[in-house]
Amino acid sequence: MLNFDDDLVSANWKQPRAVEAEVSSVAERGIEQDDAVSVRRINAADKRVINGATDVNQLVPFKYKWAWEKYLATCANHWMPQEVNMARDIALWKDPNGLTEDERRIVKRNLGFFVTADSLAANNIVLGTYRHITAPECRQFLLRQAFEEAIHTHAYQYIVESLGLDEGEIFNAYHEIPTIRAKDEFLIPFIETLTDPEFKTGTPEADQQLLRSLIVFACIMEGLFFYVGFAQILALGRQNKMTGAAEQYQYILRDESMHCNFGIDLINTIKLENPHLWTPAFRDEIRTLMQRGVELEYRYAEDTMPRGVLGLNASMFKEYLRFIANRRCQQIGIDAIYPGAENPFPWMSEMIDLKKERNFFETRVIEYQTGGALSWD
Ligand SMILES: [Fe+2]
Ligand SMILES: [Fe+2]
Repeated sequence: MLNFDDDLVSANWKQPRAVEAEVSSVAERGIEQDDAVSVRRINAADKRVINGATDVNQLVPFKYKWAWEKYLATCANHWMPQEVNMARDIALWKDPNGLTEDERRIVKRNLGFFVTADSLAANNIVLGTYRHITAPECRQFLLRQAFEEAIHTHAYQYIVESLGLDEGEIFNAYHEIPTIRAKDEFLIPFIETLTDPEFKTGTPEADQQLLRSLIVFACIMEGLFFYVGFAQILALGRQNKMTGAAEQYQYILRDESMHCNFGIDLINTIKLENPHLWTPAFRDEIRTLMQRGVELEYRYAEDTMPRGVLGLNASMFKEYLRFIANRRCQQIGIDAIYPGAENPFPWMSEMIDLKKERNFFETRVIEYQTGGALSWD
């Protein structure tokens, strides 16, 4: 027998509140039970991203087509870490003269942050966000996103294993490296809000808490905290170093930019459906959080590159982070915090659009097999 322990699933599995009222009024009018059942069919207009009363098990009729289209786009971008040839990276890493100490530091710090960051992201989706979202189109995207976070953790683990790095050192970096720990300590309270089994939406305060956590996750974690690392590893790849790792990061960057865009659409739709949440005080709070995010990420940039390396230096990242923070604010309808900030790495936007230049580093070794491993004999 099915047992729906999850509060939200069971709440939506039962007859939605609005439908219940309608069914009883039908019963009062003495209409047959069969007719009453047909009343339960979903009207797309009744769907809501949060606090919805329609059945979450019925994907159609569609209302949030943007979410469905993003789901299809992420599926079309499917990739697996083992498809990328790591042989050149391994040879370069083992060669004592292959990389400078500063370049090695960048690789290790990067993996130190990312090996646990994507697990935090996955847990935030599966144990938190998913329960509170009542639009099945958005849930469908979140399911795909959760799997992509698993692929990303797999990719980082695959790089660690390929290079023969000290797993204890890399996987404990989020406890042991202060600049990484500071970023995670900033994020964790917002994740814990959503994963707390007692937390429920439905009041303006709780709905603002949810919205705040969604903004921190999409705009600061996926939309800002990942970008120093991505730019550094892709800069290595552009100099023909660690090209396998760089290709893995390029696929991850493409996925993350989709996650960030989905998160922004989700946030803007919640704002549209619940304009009372978007108060001046709330907007000020978001600006303060964004500024704090820029500070933390800049400290991390300084720690990963105490000296200039690969033609990059920490102060270029200050400008880059300000540019990204402005963009994230504008995407959710908040004025730019750092007027005039410019993008010092215009090549990063080309990296996100893989369609233009697929297999940039030409390290992909096998094609993705659809059903190739299945046998029906
Ligand atoms: Fe990820
Ligand atoms: Fe993500």
